[in-house]
Amino acid sequence: MRIFAAVKKIKIMALIDEITKRRTFAVIAHPDAGKTTLTEKLLLFGGAIHVAGAVKSNKIKKGATSDFMEIERQRGISVATSVMGFNYKDVKINILDTPGHEDFAEDTYRTLTAVDSVIIVIDGAKGVEAQTRKLMNVCRMRSTPVMVFINKLDRPCKDPFDLLDEVERELQIRVRPLAFPISSGDTFKGVYNIYEKNLSLFTSDERQTADAETVDFSDISNPELDDYITPKFATQLRDNLDLVDAVYDDFDREAYLAGKLAPVFFGSAVNNFGVRELLECFIRIAPSPRPSTTETRAVQPDEQKMTGFVFKIHANMDPNHRDRIAFMKICSGTFERNKNYLHVRSGKQLKFSSPTAFMAEKKSVIDFAYPGDIVGLHDTGTFKIGDTFTEGEKLKFTGIPSFSPELFRYIENADPMKFKQLAKGVDQLMDEGVAQLFTSSLNGRKIIGTVGQLQFEVIQYRLEHEYGAKCRWEPISIHKACWIESDNAEQLADFKRRKHSNMAVDKHGRDVFLADTSYALALAQENFKDIRFYFTSEF
Ligand code: G4P
Repeated sequence: MRIFAAVKKIKIMALIDEITKRRTFAVIAHPDAGKTTLTEKLLLFGGAIHVAGAVKSNKIKKGATSDFMEIERQRGISVATSVMGFNYKDVKINILDTPGHEDFAEDTYRTLTAVDSVIIVIDGAKGVEAQTRKLMNVCRMRSTPVMVFINKLDRPCKDPFDLLDEVERELQIRVRPLAFPISSGDTFKGVYNIYEKNLSLFTSDERQTADAETVDFSDISNPELDDYITPKFATQLRDNLDLVDAVYDDFDREAYLAGKLAPVFFGSAVNNFGVRELLECFIRIAPSPRPSTTETRAVQPDEQKMTGFVFKIHANMDPNHRDRIAFMKICSGTFERNKNYLHVRSGKQLKFSSPTAFMAEKKSVIDFAYPGDIVGLHDTGTFKIGDTFTEGEKLKFTGIPSFSPELFRYIENADPMKFKQLAKGVDQLMDEGVAQLFTSSLNGRKIIGTVGQLQFEVIQYRLEHEYGAKCRWEPISIHKACWIESDNAEQLADFKRRKHSNMAVDKHGRDVFLADTSYALALAQENFKDIRFYFTSEF
């Protein structure tokens, strides 16, 4: 009995050790801010790649929206770079890639459900941009800890204090600089690392693995500082650091972990400048896997039993094989190859003979995975986004919502002989989370809602190439779809009767109101006080 208890204890200790080592995060940014470049430099530091250029930008260039080869290329790259794992100083880092094109924002939102923290890249010349704001809203909903990297300091940038104010105002989060730049553009001298109390000097040769020259300056009143960065910039730096101390409270890690405070770094990703400082600080302060919420209870990562959920499904690139890869985030316990797990939605026991993980540049079959890890599971069309796997407990993880789409079209069958193929294709693409399907209460017609124009083309192309079905789009004028719910059954029935022509159901049979205009939506909210209008599917 005692041996049994001892073995159990050793197993728990080993699991806790694996959990503490892990950092699972995503880099997010408005397109062009430098997400791909920063990710690549992080991988270079971790030794996961050896030359720059190995991580291809997965963005579809503007103007290429009809280029289907580009869409296929994008899909291929995003499978390969969906998860990039590497070890850095005894820490196992998992970077989850997010699509570069904003039409795929929904994919990014879902990836954010599987990370424990986020690094936001901001272009120092442009400041906070639209996509960054939207992504931050998702982080805020989940209280995800965020770190900010202000990039492109080698170009003329906005004043650092203005940038800090802008981040605070636009992203609605308190900030605390842990580094401070010395000028920018042609006169960019370097960055003072407040966190490590040293100075990194900038030279603009594009170094790939080497560190920038750092000089220890625990006391910045040291006159030698003038020799390094000229007296003018030394005085300016001292004044700025005094101001930082006066304006900002000391860095509070608890506030960062609660998603209430963002530490801010400055640098130039393309010049590999400021990246090491970011990474060093990241491994020290970023959280290891956090508890996950389910409908019934919180799951702690160090629970012995394995739990996990699917946050992303990727179709096979080869149209002759319909199989897909489902990406599962491990939330607790140890995942084992060939062990039976309960697929909660179907109630079936499933085991996986070749689960994969991405380490460095290689995709390989793994025997074990731990909380924070992402495992690729072979899927023949059984899985849906949000599916939960456990060792028997009927759990359902929450926080994997669908977002109210913004663009809508009727989908029509363009080949009457291929009705079944179309239905199957649409069904599977919706399970993959490519778009959302609504059925109009008025006429039973199917409506597809997406977050980007490109999705309609992707759906049409994939239906034809993967399912042999043809579809046609017809316009429908909808401003927004929102889920509705009420405790006042009478008012709900009245609303549904009056708005009959604007009502639909989603694929789970839930009521959805399709507002024609923002005015109609505001009016409905005003007139039907007992009805709750939701803009994400999880409420
Ligand atoms: P994204 O994934 O966020 O969309 O951005 P990406 O890394 O692809 O970077 C967008 C552009 O910004 C790239 O230039 C990249 O080289 C450049 N860039 C990234 N970091 C820095 C930096 O610190 N300083 C400067 N000056 N530029 C930076 P591009 O011309 O679009 O592509 P490329 O031909 O250089 O690859």
